[in-house]
Amino acid sequence: MTMDLRDPSDPRWQPLLDAAWAAREHAHAPYSGFRVGAALLTAGGAVVAGCNVENASYPLCTCAERGVVAAAVGQGLLRPGGLVALAVVTEADRLTPPCGACRQVLVEFADSLPVLLANRRDQAVHDLAHLLPHAFTGRDFTPPGSVPNLSKDGQGS
Ligand code: THU
Repeated sequence: MTMDLRDPSDPRWQPLLDAAWAAREHAHAPYSGFRVGAALLTAGGAVVAGCNVENASYPLCTCAERGVVAAAVGQGLLRPGGLVALAVVTEADRLTPPCGACRQVLVEFADSLPVLLANRRDQAVHDLAHLLPHAFTGRDFTPPGSVPNLSKDGQGS
C-alpha cells in the first residue's frame, strides 16, 4: 500500500488521532466550551499530545497546537525541522484549522507539515505551507554570511 500523509486514510494518522482525541478530554475550556485536542509526530517517531488550556484572564488562553509543541520541545522530543505531522480534533461541525498564531509557531519546527483536521465525521489534510504561505522565519533576519541551519539543529551558528 502506498502511504502518503497527504491522504487522511494513511494509517500513520491513526495513532495521532487517538492521542488527540484522548488529550481533548483533558482540555481546560470552561470559558469557550470549545475543546481542542492535538497530537504531533516527530522525526524520531514520538507522538506527543496536548489540548487547549484557557484562563480567567482570556488573553492567556493557549491553543492545543501551541501547547503540544511546547510539551514536545520540553520533553526533548522536538527540534526545528523535526515536526513530521500534526492532527487537530474538535467536535465542531466545520473542521477546525490552527489559528494564525499557531501556524507561525508550527512553521518554526517544520517547513512542510501535513496537518490533519478531524471531527467525529470528516477529515482533511492541509499542508502548513498552504495554511501559512510566505511565512516569516529566522531566515528572514539572519545577517548574510552567518545563516544558521535552523532546520538542522536550531542552535544557530
Ligand atoms: N483553539 C485551539 O486550541 N486551537 C485552534 O486551532 C483554535 C482555537 C482554542 C483556543 C480557545 O481555548 C478555544 O479554542 C476557543 O478559541
